[in-house]
Amino acid sequence: MPVIVVRTENGFNAFYNTCSHRGGCIVQERQGTCLGKRLICGYHAWTYNLDGELLGVPDSRDFDGLDKSKRGLVKLRCETWGGWIFINAAPDAEPLQQYLGVLPGQMAQFDLDKLSYITSYSYDVACNWKVLMDAFAENYHFVSVHRGSVGLPGPKCAVDHHGTVMSLFKNGHSRNILPWNDGFQPTADVSEETGFSMGMGGIADIPSVGPIPRQFVTAFTAFPNLTTPVYANGFPLLLFWPTGINTSRFEVIWFGLPHGESALPEAWKQKIEAFNFILDEDLTYLPSVQLSAESPAFRSIVLNYQERRIYHAHEQIDRVIGADQIPERLRVQQVLAPFVE
Ligand code: FES
Ligand SMILES: [Fe+2]
Repeated sequence: MPVIVVRTENGFNAFYNTCSHRGGCIVQERQGTCLGKRLICGYHAWTYNLDGELLGVPDSRDFDGLDKSKRGLVKLRCETWGGWIFINAAPDAEPLQQYLGVLPGQMAQFDLDKLSYITSYSYDVACNWKVLMDAFAENYHFVSVHRGSVGLPGPKCAVDHHGTVMSLFKNGHSRNILPWNDGFQPTADVSEETGFSMGMGGIADIPSVGPIPRQFVTAFTAFPNLTTPVYANGFPLLLFWPTGINTSRFEVIWFGLPHGESALPEAWKQKIEAFNFILDEDLTYLPSVQLSAESPAFRSIVLNYQERRIYHAHEQIDRVIGADQIPERLRVQQVLAPFVE
C-alpha cells in the first residue's frame, strides 16, 4: 500500500499515495523535500497542499462541476511514539499510545527521543509473515537452530532458555526476559566451541537503561508485527511485513546513541554482524518451515509453555479478524485472558 508521509508545522500527515483524479502516483521518490509545500501528481499535475487539500487542477474549466473540496487526498491515521511514525489504515482504531498499553512506559528507559538511526536493511523471506514472527516469539529453538551461535547446548551456551520470564500484555503485545548463562559476558566472551561472540563491546550504553535489559536478553513485541530485542547499548526494530501468502519482508532498523561519525563505527559493525549471524540461522531455516506447513502431513500446531507468546499473538489475530469470520476448526481457543497483565 503506497503511502506518503509529510512533515507539517504541527507534526506529520499521512496519505494514500493515490491521486484523486485517476489514481496516479503522487510521489515516486522514496524521500525528499516538498518544494513550496505542495504535492504534485506526476500524471496530470493536480496539486495538493500538505493537508491533502486539492488546490490546483490544470485546465480546470474542462472539469464541469468539479468540487475541489471533495477531491482531496485520502488521509491515514498517523501517530508517533518515541520518534517513530505509525500509520494506521483503520480510522476508528484506538489511539496509538492506548493501543500500545505498557510498552511505551517500559521502553521509556531507552530515552527513545535521544536515540539516532544507526542503519537498516531487509531480507525477502520465502515464508508467511507469521512463520517469521513466531520464530522471534520463543527461545525453544535456540539449542537447535542457534547451536552455531547463542544456543550451543551445554554449559557454554550463551543463554539459558529455561529461565525465560514471559509477560503477556493486552492487545497481543508481550515481553520476553531471557537470562544469559551463568558467567557469560555478552560484551567480551567468545564461545570456545564456535568462535561466536555477541560483539557487544565498545558501544556506549544508553545511561538511563535500567537493570533488566543490562542483565538479561530483553525483548518486546508490539502486536502484530514489531519485535525488538533491546540491548543497553542500542537495539534493532524487527518488522515482519507480508508480501504474499507465503512470502514476507523482514526489516531490521537499528537505533542507538548518536555516534557522531560519518561512517558506521567498527564496534557497531561487529555488533550488527554478530546479530546478523544469528538472524541468518533463522532465515536459512524458516523457508523450509513454510514448505513443510504446506504439506498434507501438516495437520495442526502443538504449542508448549515456552511458546505461549505465540499462542497469545494468534489469539489476538483471531480477535482482530473476528471469530465469526474464521471456520470453527481453524479458530484459536481463547484461553489466555486470565494470564494477561
Ligand atoms: S491522476 Fe493525478 S493528476 Fe491525473
Ligand atoms: Fe531464532
